Amino acid sequence: MKRKLSLLLVLTLLIGMLTLTGCGGPGGKNLIGVAMPTQSLQRWNQDGENMKKELEAKGYQVDLQFANNDVNLQIQQLENMISKGCKVLVIASIDGSSLTDVLKKAAEQKIKVIAYDRLIMQTENVDYYATFDNFKVGVLQGTYIEEALGLKEGKGPYNIELFAGSPDDNNAYFFNGGAMSILQPYIDNGQLVVLSGQTEFEKIAIPAWTSATAQARMDNLITAYYSGGAKLDAVLSPNDSLAIGIVASLDSNGYGTADKPYPVLTGQDCDKPNVKAMIEGKQSMSVFKDTRTLAKQVVTMVDAILQGKEVPVNDTETYNNGVKNVPSYLCEPVFADKNNYKELLIDSGYYKMEDIQ
Ligand code: BGC
Repeated sequence: MKRKLSLLLVLTLLIGMLTLTGCGGPGGKNLIGVAMPTQSLQRWNQDGENMKKELEAKGYQVDLQFANNDVNLQIQQLENMISKGCKVLVIASIDGSSLTDVLKKAAEQKIKVIAYDRLIMQTENVDYYATFDNFKVGVLQGTYIEEALGLKEGKGPYNIELFAGSPDDNNAYFFNGGAMSILQPYIDNGQLVVLSGQTEFEKIAIPAWTSATAQARMDNLITAYYSGGAKLDAVLSPNDSLAIGIVASLDSNGYGTADKPYPVLTGQDCDKPNVKAMIEGKQSMSVFKDTRTLAKQVVTMVDAILQGKEVPVNDTETYNNGVKNVPSYLCEPVFADKNNYKELLIDSGYYKMEDIQ
């Protein structure tokens, strides 16, 4: 009896110690901070949820925050995460260049930092980057336009207008670079014509990726260049939030008829309203970046960091943040349109059919 009691005591003590030292499971009681830019765009909600689910399944505790696209709020949230004792910070930044000071504090506490989807710029205190191949996203968009218009076969000239993403988001330059790597030769040889003449990044960029700003710019372009009968054949949109603004503008300007068909229009993210727009023929394609894949990859990286194992990366050349090359893991983006969305989005369990009807 005495023996049994002391065994019990030892066991109880052991369990108590394990709990205190945070070794309760593979993730222990380790707290991970996940900072997402905003809840206003569907994808970031999914990213956040997926990260939380995957991390918790491995036994981690998660502090998940959304910052309403407000840079100062994101900095405050990161400061809180640091003082709460987070072991790793996973950050999808709002402005990639504004986190230098707060990340210095993280480094002082030996907290590792993973840039999530968007690279964090101008600091040495970012350890890893996990994203999709952002250049390839643009190549998929450019290639779609090339094929839809038959540019390789020499067809044209066609009128196109160009949009780019937010200038404070490093990804925006990669999307644009990828798309223009396909489209620029056709602009140079005259098969594609940008009637507005607006081709420079600064002129075509939409700050904060705002739908309403994209809509307003499209309205202005239509009024200034396409109201006298010129046909708008294609619009390069780098993502779905811009595409939805562009569709709203096209609709309010009478597009979608036999005389004025919708132009070829690209996008990215496969947001629900955009999948609907693809089914309705208002948006031609999107790029599917399965946020479940990215979340899983980041969790593997977090796990490796905290277990002192080698962190898996597959690119150490492409992403320089102004201070250093950040070791990166690039996931594969895939092309989506109305012909393959069922297989990609429904059969894979990403969405339910009723989500997009
Ligand atoms: C992401 C895109 C997203 C955009 C706007 C980019 O950094 O890679 O998926 O559409 O931000 O939130």
